[in-house]
Amino acid sequence: MADLDDIKDGKDWGRDRPADTSRFFLKGNAHQDWGMKARLSQVFRPDTGRTVMLAFDHGYFQGPTTGLERLDLTIAPLAEHADVLMCTRGGLRSSIPPEAGKPVVLRCSAGNSILTELSNELVSVDIEDAIRLGASAMAAQVYIGAEYEHKSIANVVKLIDAGTRYGIPTMAVTGVGKSMARDARYFGLATRIAAEIGAQFVKSYYVEEGFERITLGCPVPIVIAGGKKLPEREALEMAYRAIDQGAAGVDMGRNVFQSIDPLAMLAALAAVVHEGRTGAEGYELFQDLKAKA
Ligand code: 5RP
Repeated sequence: MADLDDIKDGKDWGRDRPADTSRFFLKGNAHQDWGMKARLSQVFRPDTGRTVMLAFDHGYFQGPTTGLERLDLTIAPLAEHADVLMCTRGGLRSSIPPEAGKPVVLRCSAGNSILTELSNELVSVDIEDAIRLGASAMAAQVYIGAEYEHKSIANVVKLIDAGTRYGIPTMAVTGVGKSMARDARYFGLATRIAAEIGAQFVKSYYVEEGFERITLGCPVPIVIAGGKKLPEREALEMAYRAIDQGAAGVDMGRNVFQSIDPLAMLAALAAVVHEGRTGAEGYELFQDLKAKA
């Protein structure tokens, strides 16, 4: 029980050990609150500042695309080998065992399909459910320059406001409308807008020309999507170039789950993203692991 007897003056003030004032390992997030930083530290590895996220949210507008026909069969076994899972709440609850114990970046937008206008989305998950699921971050698209640009920005703003209230980061995904140019100018514009409205990190596509300008011009971390399936060597080269030019990781889907060996691909991506291996070295590892499998 607390009492007033024998109160001693403190004496170990650690004069020779100044308090740690180095602020936070992720750019642009040094002034976030504790809970936000704790969750960001689940998404990005504090020892490398990077992440290998496995995206399998495609069904929310594409339906059962190749590799995602049965999430329980194709994705659940991969879960433990990724740093983070990016998915819808339906995909998560129906098919991924909670015992996987992986941080989740929860897709929180929907409202379209491959048959309709992609930019016409709405916020599809209440913040309460994101909390209930233990999400480490939420995600939605900004469709800059598209028909429903304004509405898509409003969706992400809504998530950022709700997430800020509860310490949950938001990843803004730069969605590309059917007729958008995929160049540095476009992604520079889209990623910067996403950061300025308050997204704690942003997902972009990699572009061959001028990607470094995109990462430099975006004050928060960028992770890259993989895009359409490429030969494994090319996908690993792309990951290497993105990291080399300032990306903080990958959030890849098809180039992992449509790979001839998804587990080897995840391991090779981790080597490139976290260990600084080149694309060629990553591919060598991929081939070794595939041969052993
Ligand atoms: C869909 C997404 C996907 O998660 C994203 O495109 C990543 O998947 P892939 O590497 O297959 O492009 O955000 O809108």
